[in-house]
Amino acid sequence: MASINAQQVGTLTAILLAAGKGERAGGGVAKQYRRLGAHSVLAHAYASLRRIEGMGQIVVVIAEGEESNASAALASVEPSPLFVTGGAERRDSVRRAIDHLSQLGSPPSHVFVHDSARPFIPVEVGNRLLAALESGAAAAMPVLPVADTLVQGYENLAGEVVPRADLYRVQTPQVFRFNVLSAAHDGWDISRPATDDAQMVRAIGHGVVLVDGDQRLEKITMAEDFARIGGMNGIGPEYRTGTGYDVHRLVPGKPLWLCGLEIPHSHGLSGHSDADVAIHALVDAILGALAEGDIGQHFPPSDPEWRGAASWRFLEFARDRIAARHGRLVHADVTIICEAPKVGPHRDAMRDRLAEILSVSRDRISVKATTTEGLGFAGRREGIAAQASATILVGE
Ligand code: CTP
Ligand code: MG
Repeated sequence: MASINAQQVGTLTAILLAAGKGERAGGGVAKQYRRLGAHSVLAHAYASLRRIEGMGQIVVVIAEGEESNASAALASVEPSPLFVTGGAERRDSVRRAIDHLSQLGSPPSHVFVHDSARPFIPVEVGNRLLAALESGAAAAMPVLPVADTLVQGYENLAGEVVPRADLYRVQTPQVFRFNVLSAAHDGWDISRPATDDAQMVRAIGHGVVLVDGDQRLEKITMAEDFARIGGMNGIGPEYRTGTGYDVHRLVPGKPLWLCGLEIPHSHGLSGHSDADVAIHALVDAILGALAEGDIGQHFPPSDPEWRGAASWRFLEFARDRIAARHGRLVHADVTIICEAPKVGPHRDAMRDRLAEILSVSRDRISVKATTTEGLGFAGRREGIAAQASATILVGE
């Protein structure tokens, strides 16, 4: 797509509608504030508009008293959104945003009007709308053909089939020359219902150019639409697996910490922290699954704060990172590699301790041990190695 012809298009603005109650979707919280993957529906919609080439100011229209909900929902994409309070009907909400934009010293030349309930605007659709503006259209909107047979119904009896060749389903964003949209709202008989703005612009005699819409742009209306529309846009819960590996040297006369427990032994592990090699491997496995670096990055050995630190604190940190990603630890598997001490007698206590730190049930934690048949550093009892894997369900 060529870059926008600034002469033709001028300044782009968007009105993002989020003042509805979302009654049909249910769920206690209005649909635009609910989460889909890592972000709220509103944040996805905002980010989608932001990706449109040349997009300037985005005015977010919200219901009265919803500033804190809306700010929280947008925090991941916009630290200081511009809010306007909406009205009882969608049309009133658009009107309030138009009034706000009209009061600016230099109102925009064009405006996108978009439902936050359509969280994902494919880039191609945005480009088609821009292309329509570039070619001088006063208004344009994305539409989809109707695939199913349409029939009139009389109670439970079918009537005439409605020819569908020239019928379309209308989507947003709809784009307008700002003065045309403003005039359309001025001219509208407010006793007439209006479900979108294009119909109002037509009513004052302007053509509305149709561009190809996209299924991924469908609106969240009912509860089941979240998963369906999220799925079409590559958003949904996913399993992640990470692995970790660590080694510490055995030295005489030190306490031996393994899996958050002090294990009676002649030697202990040396290291900057308590050197709990099993926990370190497990923390790395979890961070690996989240693709959030490694233990040394979060707890640098050079930092005196972690000198002698109990390693369960690192594991608690990893647990909190899982929660921050809306994740759930499905399973962790730790293998301790040493000649001595024997791990078997401590295995269940270790599982319980790890499960407690991670706030999961014991059946999700496995602790195993192996020797190396006397070979290598572990075989010579110079050190203990541990490896771990973690399976995490993220974005539920
Ligand atoms: N909208 C708005 N102001 C209103 C009504 C609706 O800004 N007074 C917005 C909604 O937030 C939504 C879009 O217009 O993003 C499309 O409306 P709809 O899908 O009907 O959403 P709701 O009105 O919130 O849902 P429902 O009709 O199920 O209550
Ligand atoms: Mg509605």
